[in-house]
This record gives sequence, C-alpha cells and structure tokens, in this order.
Amino acid sequence: MVAVNYWIQLVKSRIVALFALAIAICFTVIACGGSPAQEQAQGSVSPEVVTDYIHTVLESDRTAYTKNVVNRLKKLEGKDKKDGVVPAEATESWQTENGVPLPAQMFRLGAELASEKGQFTYGLISPWNINDAQAPKSDFEKTAMEKVVEMGEPYKEYQEIGGQKYFSALYPDKAVAEACVSCHNNHPVHQERYPDKVFEMGDVMGGVMINLPVEGS
Ligand code: HEC
Repeated sequence: MVAVNYWIQLVKSRIVALFALAIAICFTVIACGGSPAQEQAQGSVSPEVVTDYIHTVLESDRTAYTKNVVNRLKKLEGKDKKDGVVPAEATESWQTENGVPLPAQMFRLGAELASEKGQFTYGLISPWNINDAQAPKSDFEKTAMEKVVEMGEPYKEYQEIGGQKYFSALYPDKAVAEACVSCHNNHPVHQERYPDKVFEMGDVMGGVMINLPVEGS
C-alpha cells in the first residue's frame, strides 16, 4: 500500500512538472513571437528610421577604423604619429605605396561594394571635395548640401531618379578631430581649388548621402 501511494505521488508530481514545463514553453513562444503591437511597429518602420540606422552603422565603422586601425599606424600621409605602434602608413596612394586606405577611401570602397547589390546607395559628398566623384551633382544633392552646411542638421526628402522614387537623407560630416581639418586644409587639391576655404574644428566638411528606393510614385 505504501509503495502504491509512493508511485501515485511520483506520477502526480511528474504531471505537475510536465504541466509547468508546457506553460513555460507556451509563454516563451508567445513572448518571442511578439505582440501584435510589436509586429505592427516592425512592419511599418519609416524610411527615415531605416536611413538613421544605416547612418549609425556607417559612422560607427568609420570611427572604429580610424581609431583602431589608422591611429595605430606609425605614419599618416608621410607624417609621424607619436602614438603609432604598427610600422605602416595610412595614405591616399595606398595602392601604389606600402599602405592602407584613409578612412574616406575605406568608406568609398565599402559604398562601391554595397551599391553593386542594388538595394540602396550611399556615399560621401562635399562642396569642397578632393575627389571629383564626391561633388554634389544633381540639383537635389546641391540643395541638400547647402541646407546641411547652413543648418548642421540632416536633410531628408523624397526624390525621383529615372522613374524610381527614393527617400534620401544627407547627414552632416563634421570636423570631429584636428586631423580632419589639417589633412584637408593642407591637401594640394584643396589648396588649389578652394584656397579661401579653411576648415575649423566642428565645421561641416561634407555629408553622408543615403538613397533608399521606396515604392509608389
Ligand atoms: C590624412 C588625410 C585625411 C584625413 C585625416 C581626413 N581626410 Fe577626409 N579625405 C581625404 C582625402 C584624400 C579624401 C578623398 C578620398 C577619396 O578619394 O575618396 C577625403 C574625402 C573626404 C570627404 C568626401 C569629399 C571629398 O573631399 O572628396 C569628406 C566629407 C571628408 N573627407 C571629411 C573628413 C572628415 C570629417 C575627417 C575627420 C573625421 C576627415 N575627412 C579626415 C583626406 C583626409
């Protein structure tokens, strides 16, 4: 009799445990599946939020590359860097000399690869561009660049290119380090083209343009 009671007790406790487990699984599935409100929010992320996300990734990668790669090299455009520990140079002519690309070049190399995928495009532009490919070209880019230089804030607007509608956002690219200012001000192309433009810390030096194709006309 004692033995039977023991077994009944055991089976009961197993059932309770199994039941608890089932409830736990149900809760997990519901929680991870997301509430209807969450799903709605995910389904309606605005293009503005998407470009903000893309911009965050681009800026973070560029800063991380500058801080953790370029800043550890012994030389930057022929000049010694006191904190450099790796015997290499970051230089514009990295392809013909023994060096690695400057942050802006690294950014462009990534932009070229991303554009090949045909989902969206991005790039650096500036009214005081060193690289011809990075001048504001269309009327849209010129207006956006003017506004960003004037206000120091992102400019976001819809535009149409070749029948395709885009949400485009231009984010200010500011002189956040002394190296931005000194390298651009002393660059031979800058000095020849824009002798009167002397960048100072905090100035808008250009912008990061992101073009996101959107549906509708
Ligand atoms: C050591 C030199 C150097 C430093 C430091 C540097 N740049 Fe540049 N930057 C260049 C060169 C060279 C280009 C053109 C590169 C290319 O071919 O894409 C360029 C390109 C750019 C462009 C695109 C327009 C153009 O001129 O073609 C912007 C905007 C820009 N840099 C902003 C910055 C900012 C902001 C910083 C600091 C966070 C910075 N740069 C640091 C040399 C430098």
